[in-house]
Amino acid sequence: MSVPRHGAQSCDVLMTTLSRMCGIIGYVGTKSAEDIVLEGLRRMEYRGYDSAGIALVAVDGLVTAKKAGKLANLEKALADQPLPPATTGLGHTRWATHGPPVDRNAHPHVSADRKAAVVHNGIIENFGALRSELERAGLELSSDTDTEVVAHLLAAAHAAQTGPDAGRLAAAMRAVCLRLEGSFSLVTVHADHPGQVVGARRNQPLVGGIGDGEYFLGSDVSAFIAHTRDALELGQDQVVTLDVEHGVTVTDFAGTPVQPKRFYVDWDAAAAEKGGYAWFMLKEIDEQPAAIADTLRGRLSETGQIVLDEVRLSDEDLRDIDKVFIVACGTANHAAMVAKYAIEHWTRLPCEVELASEFRYRDPVLDRSTLVIAISQSGETMDTLMALRHAKDQRARVLAICNTNGSTIPRESDAVLYTRAGPEVAVASTKAFLAQLAACYLVALYLAQARGTKYADEIAAIVAQLNMLPDAVADTLGRMDQVRAIGRELAKEPTILFVGRHVGYPIALEGALKLKELAYIHAEGFAAGELKHGYISLIEEGTPVVTVIPARGRNSVHSKVISNIQEMRARGAKTIVIAADGDDEVAPYADHLIYVPTTPTLLAPVLTAIPMQVLACEIADIRGLDVDQPRNLAKSVTVE
Ligand code: AGP
Repeated sequence: MSVPRHGAQSCDVLMTTLSRMCGIIGYVGTKSAEDIVLEGLRRMEYRGYDSAGIALVAVDGLVTAKKAGKLANLEKALADQPLPPATTGLGHTRWATHGPPVDRNAHPHVSADRKAAVVHNGIIENFGALRSELERAGLELSSDTDTEVVAHLLAAAHAAQTGPDAGRLAAAMRAVCLRLEGSFSLVTVHADHPGQVVGARRNQPLVGGIGDGEYFLGSDVSAFIAHTRDALELGQDQVVTLDVEHGVTVTDFAGTPVQPKRFYVDWDAAAAEKGGYAWFMLKEIDEQPAAIADTLRGRLSETGQIVLDEVRLSDEDLRDIDKVFIVACGTANHAAMVAKYAIEHWTRLPCEVELASEFRYRDPVLDRSTLVIAISQSGETMDTLMALRHAKDQRARVLAICNTNGSTIPRESDAVLYTRAGPEVAVASTKAFLAQLAACYLVALYLAQARGTKYADEIAAIVAQLNMLPDAVADTLGRMDQVRAIGRELAKEPTILFVGRHVGYPIALEGALKLKELAYIHAEGFAAGELKHGYISLIEEGTPVVTVIPARGRNSVHSKVISNIQEMRARGAKTIVIAADGDDEVAPYADHLIYVPTTPTLLAPVLTAIPMQVLACEIADIRGLDVDQPRNLAKSVTVE
């Protein structure tokens, strides 16, 4: 079979290797499985780094080692207590979604008979019911994770198989996958099958590697690219068996054989870690549909009710709230500014947004009836941490919205709602920002639901609109060639202005921040209504101004923003307008008109932020700058 060559930008391969969280590797062959697995984990550590583990099928059976913290902790543990040699094994570097990053929650998870080891990337939505079933059967689970449930189910399914030995583990994997809901890529090894690795995937990436007498499975090709470039693309709802004697077998979950798609990887190892993208930021921009989908997943009941299990504030607590503060920094602060509109409109609670670094110095009025929401991707931003400590000193209730499981800010908060954007490597926040917006909408609806300020059918209607966001984001991403062309046109501009009104104002600020932090251009974001109060003096012939205009309709400020655009254009501004599909009213006043799908006004920032991200990234790239690691900036600011 001729193996098609995939360049770094081939989108079908990229779509299968888009990382969301956790790094997985499986190996079977003739070399040291421990060496291969550890090397693969090192290459994938950017995908998640709060714990790591390994399992090997040695002569005397399954052996495992796993440690919280960086991969180096596992490597030290293995140096202190070496595992026996083996040529079959798997490994995992974790980005926690269920359960804090401690040893017991690290992968791999092992069945009670210590025969099956499993690693997992994704979210098993029905793990609670499955866990209860196992506990009712007398099993004592040792971790807080959804993955451990899979290990026990797999061992039971394997024991129940009666087919030929070579196919038993795959048959067991199929039986288990048919019971799982949610998203998962799974890899397992079993003491009874020392020459096999079996994997399965649904909505999470998993790719195979074909070597000379050896086989690999990985979350992406960076896991094995040092050993082979001959790869195997696995489709949705498929199970793959890699067997040193019988080669590669792929079936669907029903057991029907499937002809897998082979491809040749042209990437170098560095490009492979970025999934073939030139920058992590580009990859993370493309991961935004999944970041929203994963953040919403499992939090909206069939009836459209909001279900936030980890937000340990009772409805009574929430009904006692008479004021909301939101504290955050940088991009997270812009998410807070958008959240303010949704919270006030849906809950009728007064909501203030304050920069975390300013919060405690203004001596805010807080008491037991105040809810302080702290938004942070890293969960370690010192300004935000100090703000929430001040809030707690004043007896306010604190809810964290965070992307990093087990980090300091959620640990010190009364409740947490985790975004599930997966690790964000680029310093400039993109997918975490959109996930923060989704989480803020969920919290606002949760408050409205608890306080009865929205009827169930009204909440269900908004939930239905939230569920359409991942596709709307993907649609928007497909329109960005126009924005990249505008970036090339503006790349040499010394200054660019960003204007917005209502929820478009925080997005104007976000657009300016992205351009400042990535391209080192002086950029300014301001409220459209402030134009005549000073900012209009900045406009001269050719000044580029990016304006976010809301969709037309009730409660819209559409006509006012058109007037603002006319005023700027009358003074020579080059107008780049981001508008909703079908808005032809603004067309005569736009030098460039970027359309995004029409969404309800309050949800529009999820889409209008995307052209801002792409514009800044393109300009920085054209200027030859390091898009992922801009000068003077760190991914997490852990000092005040
Ligand atoms: C955004 O692109 C920046 N990286 C920065 O403003 C960031 O949002 C801010 O430092 C807050 O970080 P946090 O979300 O980890 O708390």
